[in-house]
Amino acid sequence: MSEDALEEYRTRSHTWRLESGCVVDTLLGGGVESGTITQFYGPAGVGKTNLCLMYAVGAVRAGRRVVFIDTEGGHSLERVRQIAGEEYARVVESVQFYEARTFEEQDFIVQNVEHVIDDGFGLIVLDSAVNLYRLDRSDEKIGELNRRLSRQMAKLMELARRHCLAVIITNQVYSSEQRVEPVAGDVLRYWSKAIVELRKLNRVREAVLKRHRSLPEGLSVRFVIEERGIREI
Ligand SMILES: Nc1ncnc2c1ncn2[C@@H]1O[C@H](COP(=O)(O)OP(=O)(O)OP(=O)(O)O)[C@@H](O)[C@H]1O
Ligand SMILES: [Mg+2]
Repeated sequence: MSEDALEEYRTRSHTWRLESGCVVDTLLGGGVESGTITQFYGPAGVGKTNLCLMYAVGAVRAGRRVVFIDTEGGHSLERVRQIAGEEYARVVESVQFYEARTFEEQDFIVQNVEHVIDDGFGLIVLDSAVNLYRLDRSDEKIGELNRRLSRQMAKLMELARRHCLAVIITNQVYSSEQRVEPVAGDVLRYWSKAIVELRKLNRVREAVLKRHRSLPEGLSVRFVIEERGIREI
């Protein structure tokens, strides 16, 4: 067996699913798969950060630690407390929050996160992968930014495989001719083995499966966001 094939075998034989306890688990065939990258994309306020927090709490419940990289200017500890409920103390202890304020900082954190994680970690969240990329974007720089974003994804994928952990990235959308397109769509699509689009239908949200290795595209579930997090309707 070649080293690559062996690596692949090791990864697959240890695959597990990270559960948040909400309906999006069902959409993903039981939860977010370890050893790979899962992407949630959708418009502002649709619930991407809520979902990331639900999965972070799920990882802690499963006895694992979490790296949560925020690019949106501040975690709301109050929101973490609401979603974590009685797990709050454990969550604060087991989740390492990092804040990136520029794309450079995001690059630095992602490239160096391996120094803080070990096999006790079950999840890395990058929320969002493109918030700072968007701020930095200009025509001259786009190629270089895409290369760096790609390198960040490669690093996250490597860590997912090596430590058999789940990686969740979020992505925003922009509108083009009536359709919503993910930002840096090609780069992030290439690296994400599971992709879920989140849509706003007034108060109700819909999560639609856009890519999965064993489930059909187009499956969907609906939910609302409440104080304690996401609830199926
Ligand atoms: N305590 C709460 N009770 C009910 N809904 C809440 C509560 N806290 C937050 N929300 C809802 O969560 C939604 C915001 O979700 P979230 O922050 O996950 O969006 P997002 O997709 O991450 O957006 P962005 O792209 O701006 O980061 C808002 O509609 C807000 O009303
Ligand atoms: Mg958010």
